[in-house]
Order: sequence, then structure tokens, then C-alpha cells
Amino acid sequence: MHQHNFLLRSLAFLILLGVHSAWDTQMASAQLIIAHRGASAEAPENTLAAFKLAWKKGADGIEGDFYLSRDGQIVTIHDATTKRTANKNLVVADSTLAQLRKLDFGSWKSKEYAGERIPTLSEVLAIVPPGKKIFIEIKCGPEIVPELKNVLSTSKLNPSQTIVIAFDKKVIVAVKDQIPQIKAYWLTGFKRSKLTGKWHPTIATLMKTLKAIGADGLDTQNNMAIVNADFVKTLRAAELEFHVWTIDKPSEARYFQRLGADSLTTNHAKEIRQSLVRP
Ligand code: G3P
Ligand code: CA
Repeated sequence: MHQHNFLLRSLAFLILLGVHSAWDTQMASAQLIIAHRGASAEAPENTLAAFKLAWKKGADGIEGDFYLSRDGQIVTIHDATTKRTANKNLVVADSTLAQLRKLDFGSWKSKEYAGERIPTLSEVLAIVPPGKKIFIEIKCGPEIVPELKNVLSTSKLNPSQTIVIAFDKKVIVAVKDQIPQIKAYWLTGFKRSKLTGKWHPTIATLMKTLKAIGADGLDTQNNMAIVNADFVKTLRAAELEFHVWTIDKPSEARYFQRLGADSLTTNHAKEIRQSLVRP
């Protein structure tokens, strides 16, 4: 009898353990946590140091910004110039990779990161672990797409791990045309008219655009005034994915979790994951 009770208790414990880890797995995959410019709250944005730190913080994916250099290399940087994040001001499109490599992209953030160099897209792809993702934000125009195709073809990553995001509609069209095996999400923000008080673009305009450019989904600015349950219902009815940036507050994370977002892009990957509600 004693042995029987022990067996029952052990069985109950194992079932509870299974349910618990199933919750963990489910939550880990319900909203992907994407580290914005890497772990950019602590490390210098868009550097290998920031991307490596993002993996340590348990991100499901990283987001980075990309331009074409003068000699046709894809480099990782948010702005069109190096002024804000390096020790010398160069225009990225007018500079060669060798010139950009000489700059220090770490010191502006902290001494600890002094000497951090600008990475190429190939170098960033090389540190994406199996099963993790990268959101490649194209900051220039569609002229980058042939080289993007070339770089992706030499990467060890499979197509489901690499996603292109862009505000420029022409970039989405070029990606779906030249690299159809990878997903592309259109990025949009919203502006409010001072005259009418209405937000633009409207969901109707958004839907027309997404369809016209062949996007796989929308990656929207965090705007709780316009992105609501009806907005998401319209996207889902058209079988489109729904991603959102930048989510740095727990209340925002929970709001977009309730709406069923596919991913949350954040500067604070660990804290935002912890703030999500368990079922
Ligand atoms: O993930 C999209 C988001 O990064 C777009 O804004 O200015 O941070 O590149 P930005
Ligand atoms: Ca970005």
C-alpha cells in the first residue's frame, strides 16, 4: 500500500513537471522575443558584442540594420552615417568596408566596448545559433537585394531563420521576387493628423499595401491607439503575420501578447520575456 502511494505521488509529480515544461515551451514559442539591434540597452547597437549578449539573454531572434557600402558589402548600422555610433563621421554608402572597419563602434556606449568594429551581414549570420532567427532590416533601397541573396546563399542558416523587414515597399517587392524562399514583413509607423485627429495609414490602406507588395506580414510600430483586436483580426483574416516593435514596458508586452502578436522586438529581451503572462 505504502509503495502504491509512493508510485502514485511520483506519477503525479512527473505529470505536473511535464505540464510545467509544456507551458514553458508554449510560452517560449507564443511570442518570439527579438532583440532590437542586439542587446542594445547594454551593449553598442548592431555590433557582434550586442548580438552575442542577446543570445545570452535568451532572445529567440535578433534584429539588425543593414546598408550597402561603396564597395558593395552589406554592413550592420542603423544610420546612413557613422556620426552617432563611431569615432569619425563617414557616409556609409560613400565608404569602403576597409574604411568603415577602421572606426571604433563601441566607445560611444562604454569603455568596456572600445574597439568594437562594424560587422558585415555574413559575420552576424555566422553567430545565429541553430533554431534562432534574424530580422534583417534593410535601411537602403532594393539595390542591396542581389548581394543579400548572395550572402544568404553562402550562409549555413536555413531560409526560415532569416527574415527581411523594411519600410521601403520596393525592398519587400524585390526580396519576394529575387529570394522568394525567405519571408519579408513590411514595417510601418503611424501619424495622427492634427486636422482630423485620425491615424494614418488606416488599416484599409495597410491591407491594400501589404497585398500589393506581397508581404508575408506586418511589423508594426507599437501604437496601442490603432493596433487593437479588430486591427489584428483583419490581418489574420488575410493570413498575414503580426509583429510589433519596440516593446520595452511589461504592460505593452502583455497588451500585444493578448492580441496574439507573433513577435515582440525589444531592447530588454530578458525582462520582456519574464513579463509575459503564463496561460
Ligand atoms: O524592428 C523595426 C525597428 O527596428 C524599426 O525602427 O529605427 O529602430 O530601425 P528602427
Ligand atoms: Ca531597425
